[in-house]
Amino acid sequence: MENSILELMKTEHGEISILLESFDMLNNIDFDKSKEAFSVFEKEVIKHFDIEEKSIFVLNSLIMDDEISKVFDLMTQHGAIMGIISQIKQNIENNSKSDITILREMLNNHANFEETEFYPRLDEKLSVQDKENIIKKFFS
Ligand SMILES: [Fe+2]
Ligand SMILES: [Fe+2]
Repeated sequence: MENSILELMKTEHGEISILLESFDMLNNIDFDKSKEAFSVFEKEVIKHFDIEEKSIFVLNSLIMDDEISKVFDLMTQHGAIMGIISQIKQNIENNSKSDITILREMLNNHANFEETEFYPRLDEKLSVQDKENIIKKFFS
């Protein structure tokens, strides 16, 4: 089967959401462990957004001029999500519990937009070589 960025992204988004849920679960049981879980979650999100912004969105703007506004929306959502993540991080530093309802919803909506609107179109447009290069970055 030909490489698909969409399929890789679905897996990535699923992993990120599992990490967020394990933080939430631990938040009520073991604060120290939840702290560790949060830092794993945060690292994954940062890596994911970083590859999207530096390797994928840039490439996208070169080949799909009409998609610029989608990229702009996605970047704005990344910023908003990172804002909430840093608020939760601050809560953790102050030893207080966090409600992840809004973060969960924002991440789900964002992943949904990427999986239905953005990546299917990108998969159609990218060359096999471009896809391979992107996929490699996620496994490096
Ligand atoms: Fe994204
Ligand atoms: Fe994503």
